[in-house]
Amino acid sequence: MNILGINAYHGNASAAIVCDGQLIAAVEEERFNRVKYAAGFPAQAIRYCLKEAGLTLKDVDHVAVPRNPYARLATKLFYAVRMPSFARERAKVMVKFTGIREALGQTFDADAEKIEAKFHRIEHHQAHLASAFYVSPFERAALLSADGLGDFASTMWGSGEGSRMQIDGAIAFPHSLGLYYSAVTQYLGFLKFGDEYKVMGLAAYGQPEQLDAFRDIVRSNGRGFRLGLDYFTHHRTGPEMSWAEADKTPVLGRMFSEEMPRRLGPTRAPEEPLEQRHRNLAASLQARLEEVYLGMLKKLAERTRLKAVCLAGGVAFNCVANGKIFDATGFEQVYVHPAAGDGGLSIGAAFYVWHQVLGKPRSFAMNHAYWGPGFSRDEVNRAVEASSLPGKGYSVEELAEGELLRRTAGIIADGKILGWFQGRAEWGPRALGNRSIVADPRRAEMKEILNRRVKHREIFRPFAPSILEEATGAWFEKSHPSPFMTMAYAVRPEKRERIPAPTHVDGTGRLQTVAREANSRYWRLIKAFEELTDVPVVLNTSFNDNEPIVCRPEEALDCFLRTQMDALVLDDFLITRS
Ligand SMILES: [Fe+2]
Repeated sequence: MNILGINAYHGNASAAIVCDGQLIAAVEEERFNRVKYAAGFPAQAIRYCLKEAGLTLKDVDHVAVPRNPYARLATKLFYAVRMPSFARERAKVMVKFTGIREALGQTFDADAEKIEAKFHRIEHHQAHLASAFYVSPFERAALLSADGLGDFASTMWGSGEGSRMQIDGAIAFPHSLGLYYSAVTQYLGFLKFGDEYKVMGLAAYGQPEQLDAFRDIVRSNGRGFRLGLDYFTHHRTGPEMSWAEADKTPVLGRMFSEEMPRRLGPTRAPEEPLEQRHRNLAASLQARLEEVYLGMLKKLAERTRLKAVCLAGGVAFNCVANGKIFDATGFEQVYVHPAAGDGGLSIGAAFYVWHQVLGKPRSFAMNHAYWGPGFSRDEVNRAVEASSLPGKGYSVEELAEGELLRRTAGIIADGKILGWFQGRAEWGPRALGNRSIVADPRRAEMKEILNRRVKHREIFRPFAPSILEEATGAWFEKSHPSPFMTMAYAVRPEKRERIPAPTHVDGTGRLQTVAREANSRYWRLIKAFEELTDVPVVLNTSFNDNEPIVCRPEEALDCFLRTQMDALVLDDFLITRS
């Protein structure tokens, strides 16, 4: 039985294929069309997923789409009357959404009417919850999804057992932790879609001096929270989103009202310098998010009396808050879907159909994130040859693994910047050792070098450590696995000066714990680095330069040559300056 999940006409358009309950492939459209957070119809992602699974469109039994126009219909109609322009915008998206069958037909040059697969509409947050629970290793778990907005809700919680999920509550538009974070992110002068994680990084440089004001912006109540709507505009105008086109990154209109600068001080324009006041505001924003998010999780743990929790939705990318769950709530185990944002909805919708609709038992756990395109030795070789590297002053060697890792670990330990491209691409926004740039964590200057030569990003943003899973407790104050880089833990004080480059200003690191069985070659690379340096950690940042993470070897070579990396490993090929 083959189930195709499609997240279309929504940020992070993506596709996933689940065959007899096993995930075979999943990828976001941005990796193909090279537009960050691309919306629209993920035609290339769907083609890739079917090809990887060896299927044609005729073999697909079910198509799962994470949007249900009938969910919260009364609320939708209520706001449609009050916000006609928003209603018109949503209606346009809805027309596209109902055309998924036609778009699928066009993608494969097939008659849409003859597609035999059964179509399912899964409510946005139920798909988020399914994306976390049904691929988690837990038989029973509490569930929480929190994001900006989806099917007119921002938050949903419940519990899962075996192949069933039970929904216990939800918070509807206009109250939203995701929109709260987005609105204050805009107010602080970060206007691009997806900039929230920059402000989370900035928060570590400030003090939550304005926490009281933020307690008025997000107010606690018995169910969790509600927004102080005076500070926002989205409940009057609707969040102005345009994300129906595949070739564009989604754009969000302004979401905060004049009340926000009245209470917090002047709005920062993007070109204005960052002052301590802005850092303190970011810290206050983050502190209030943590109070509310961790408070909801604490109540969820008490109500369900479960020890494990599964998280998804864009708010679940807040690794700083996630890292505090163990101390702040009764939960002892946490699973965050690697594509916790809307990209993950395609997997969630597909597994929802397999378990919740079809009642099939659980037989799959996602313990690694390598579900995207991989390339054969010949494809990699062709890309290398086409780049005429020797003529550009580079030498190319094809090496056996032992020699490759020994040489590569030496390159990193020498303070060089290494492009590291292996196997199948990661699912979700984090590079986890298959499309990564790797560097020496012991050198404090590495952050500045990486920014100047390759990444060109804000200096206040931290870089992440990848650590051998078994060494986690010796280097960090928590040892719970974080295979998808979704948790930030404090680095042990005595270790901070040994890995200054990926240690953030507040002493934490957004770590990836690398298990040998999840990615044996990356694990062995870090092990080889440890043998040279006594440090079981490398600095890991995504293989890109202000673009989606590279997918194909050609893009890796292009990024390598365009920036000033020192060496590149493409599967078994080692490329160095000669
Ligand atoms: Fe969402």
